[in-house]
Amino acid sequence: MALMFGLPLILSPQSASFLGSVEARGGWYPNGLMGGNSSQQFPRHIRNSTTRKPCCVSQKAANPKASPWLPYEKAEVIKSLEDWFENNIITLLKPVEQAWQPHDFLPNPASDGFYEQVKELRERVQELPDEYFVVLVGDLITEEALPTYATMVNSAEGIRDITTSSSEPWARWTRGWTAEENRHGDLLNKYLFLSGRVDMKYVEKTIHYLIRSGADSMSKNDAYRGIVYTSFQERATHISHANTARLAKQHGDTKLAQICGTISADEKRHEVAYVMMMSKLFEVDPNYSILSFADMMRMRISMPGQFMYDGHDENLFTHFSAVAQRLGVYTTKDYADIVEHLVDKWKIEKLTGLSSEASEAQDFLCQLAPKIRKLDERAQARGRYRHGDVPVLFPFKWIFSREVKLW
Ligand SMILES: *[C@@H]1O[C@H](CO)[C@@H](O)[C@H](O)[C@H]1NC(C)=O
Ligand SMILES: *[C@@H]1O[C@H](CO)[C@@H](O)[C@H](O)[C@H]1NC(C)=O
Ligand SMILES: *[C@@H]1O[C@H](CO)[C@@H](O)[C@H](O)[C@H]1NC(C)=O
Ligand SMILES: [Fe+2]
Ligand SMILES: [Fe+2]
Repeated sequence: MALMFGLPLILSPQSASFLGSVEARGGWYPNGLMGGNSSQQFPRHIRNSTTRKPCCVSQKAANPKASPWLPYEKAEVIKSLEDWFENNIITLLKPVEQAWQPHDFLPNPASDGFYEQVKELRERVQELPDEYFVVLVGDLITEEALPTYATMVNSAEGIRDITTSSSEPWARWTRGWTAEENRHGDLLNKYLFLSGRVDMKYVEKTIHYLIRSGADSMSKNDAYRGIVYTSFQERATHISHANTARLAKQHGDTKLAQICGTISADEKRHEVAYVMMMSKLFEVDPNYSILSFADMMRMRISMPGQFMYDGHDENLFTHFSAVAQRLGVYTTKDYADIVEHLVDKWKIEKLTGLSSEASEAQDFLCQLAPKIRKLDERAQARGRYRHGDVPVLFPFKWIFSREVKLW
């Protein structure tokens, strides 16, 4: 998973109200989850929302009938897929001996050429603009909050790793997935460290804050929703890393392009796995699967990095997302494309014999991507990407407070 983007900022709350409750996007915190003095631990916009009821203004708005826990019979459905999972999903993990490691892409500290290789690296990155580093750091930070995502997956009823070393196939998948993901943050972190282009102290602080803050997938501990969420996020990160690869290449850093491309390929493989899991659930249980999918989309997929904070900027995630949007690394159009891709993969249009509630969800899902695109086009035509046409510069701590254009 990891990068995990939400719908970028483009749509105003009003124009996007068809997507469901705007409240759903707020950064609420389950009370009592954090321990300690929460008013000291979180940026103000998150602190403020701790006063909101924990779970679920948003659940009500999106699907009043949804249970906050996976119904027992749904856990049974998942259990019945154990063999299928073993034969089709576990096999998508790369054997460790064949897997790449960050070391393969970095200057070798045990070699005589180390200093020379570092020097070359630092020369290569000179061609990359500051705004590129803002996006790459945001991607890195989101990857680095992996402990949160592992916890998230392991909170999902039906697929969680009960003993942290369970031999159940989904538990083994999740551990293998986490181990593969762990290399993403590791590699980007080391590359950025050596580049000398970013203020590592602020980058590290942001990671620290983000892991403390957690993330909210809105999947309500329900494996169906969790798998929808993760399918979406793996595709979003696949796209985003592919775009940072493309930009690195354009600016002449082919090594960094190779790094981002390699990470992007991992995300793709993970996306395939989660999309397959969900396809299987659609096959055996279309009614509940489609309600889960629609419910997640009504709440809008939010990015696990949404609570990012560097100790200074209360709206860091918004600012980072604006730059990612402007550079075309992750955009509203990408969001719509992902929706369409998943609707297509899960053959939503072709499902038949659905309950009436599931049929409504089907209509909603089939219309969703075109709707988002239309809103996006309208917003662009009006030149109203948030603050009008006046360019807004913002000094990012991550890059020594140098200014980057937001919009
Ligand atoms: C929590 O931190 C805030 C801000 O530093 C402080 O005003 C408040 O007294 C603290 N509350 C507790 C219960 O420690
Ligand atoms: C909390 O939110 C309210 C309403 O959105 C706002 O007026 C207030 O300034 C916020 N408080 C803090 C501490 O951010
Ligand atoms: C979906 O729900 C409808 C209406 O309750 C039911 O007739 C149908 O059998 C369900 N489909 C499956 C595959 O369970
Ligand atoms: Fe991922
Ligand atoms: Fe990742």
